Amino acid sequence: MTQPNPKNFPPRFTWGVATSSYQIEGAAHEDGRSPSIWDTFCATPGKVLNGENGDVACDHYHRLDRDLDLIQSLGVNAYRFSVAWPRIVPGGRGATNQAGLDFYSRVVDGLLARDITPWLTLYHWDLPQVLQDRGGWPARDTALAFGDYAEVVTTALGDRVKHWITINEPWVAAFMGYGNGIHAPGHTNLAESFAASHHLLLAHGLGVQAVRKNVPDAQVGITLNLAAAYPATDSEMDKAAAHRQDGFANRWYLDPVFGRGYPRDFVELLGDASPQAQGLVLPGDLDLIGVVSDFLGVNMYSRSVVEDAPDDGWLRARGLRVEGSEYTGFDWEVAPQSLTDLMLRLQKDYNPVAIYITENGASYPDTVNADGNVQDEARTRYFQQHLAALGDAITDGAKVTGYFAWSLMDNFEWAEGYDKRFGIVYVDFETQARTLKQSGQWYRDFLARAQEGQPVTLPRFPAPT
Ligand code: FCB
Repeated sequence: MTQPNPKNFPPRFTWGVATSSYQIEGAAHEDGRSPSIWDTFCATPGKVLNGENGDVACDHYHRLDRDLDLIQSLGVNAYRFSVAWPRIVPGGRGATNQAGLDFYSRVVDGLLARDITPWLTLYHWDLPQVLQDRGGWPARDTALAFGDYAEVVTTALGDRVKHWITINEPWVAAFMGYGNGIHAPGHTNLAESFAASHHLLLAHGLGVQAVRKNVPDAQVGITLNLAAAYPATDSEMDKAAAHRQDGFANRWYLDPVFGRGYPRDFVELLGDASPQAQGLVLPGDLDLIGVVSDFLGVNMYSRSVVEDAPDDGWLRARGLRVEGSEYTGFDWEVAPQSLTDLMLRLQKDYNPVAIYITENGASYPDTVNADGNVQDEARTRYFQQHLAALGDAITDGAKVTGYFAWSLMDNFEWAEGYDKRFGIVYVDFETQARTLKQSGQWYRDFLARAQEGQPVTLPRFPAPT
């Protein structure tokens, strides 16, 4: 079995676990939170498996201290969470809700008191519904509203939070939200989805601006979901299809974020659906989006293998199932080598200052056995293989400086409801009992070896009262 070598990871490497607000918090109708597009989507019949929703989720909002203890027990030095915009600015724009800020202030203080560095994501998909009612991400105003919201959060928490992620996975928010409709708000319009992608990137630029202004000593970046794209065969047609897939999933976001503007071949492919053809790319936008940031966040789960498909939609590329490969419970191929390939390619093509893996993990159908343990061997192996692959990339020169496992605990997995478990901690959603899975024990033990002898480098803050 492939085992990662803790020595492949440099000292002071960031080791963490990740979550997001709507997926774990619950308390959906408390303390002034307004509905988000996910509340609305969940309430729409047929959209989410078994009609489930995030009303309670992991009830993290009410179990904060115990969950922070749990995080601490893993020996991580960082925790990535997201802030729910509808808790902070329930009207989308305008008045701030102090109760919302107070909750995240407690999260941050609780982490710092436990020597865990907070990594705050400003947007992980829970757009206030009121903003969707005014056009959502296809409307430019939503990006401007995000800028105001970022101003509020950076002002309130910037004294203690020094690591900021602007937007989580704009591809998913734009394409699955507005293109294929699998996610909230469930629209199916290609042009809208590419309008949304532009405004999400604009929001990133505005977020960077807010962080720079209010937290000058912070690190800030965006998190992209990236998957290396491979041609099914060596044929020129399949290679061209893989290049298109790469344009769609990866370059469309990487190129503008690294200051190169949108990839020309892909703008042409999109034709009328491109933000350019829709007249949405205004002077100054690309400079704002391309502002130099401090790191690139990468969420990596799998890869794609594609063949040319002349009759298959506008992208003309079809993803294939790879014979002999292992697949996770989500039906995603387990492809650790593609993580090494992706890291080295990013380093070569984009030369980021630093790369953080902000999510990586796998869902499998877990069960608690008679002894009360969860023996999730497949997930444990997944983490081992991917950390080994990451170690290889670092050895070969990729500037990867951190890794966050997705996820701390089983949670509301969007359109899949509670069916897909990604946690290294098992959650019994009836009782809210948490059980550290075998994968969590392995991760904890691996981190102990990787961080052996390293001093705690965090500044100490007073414990919360
Ligand atoms: C990513 C999301 C995260 C989680 C994982 C499985 O796309 O960022 O919230 O759902 O997938």
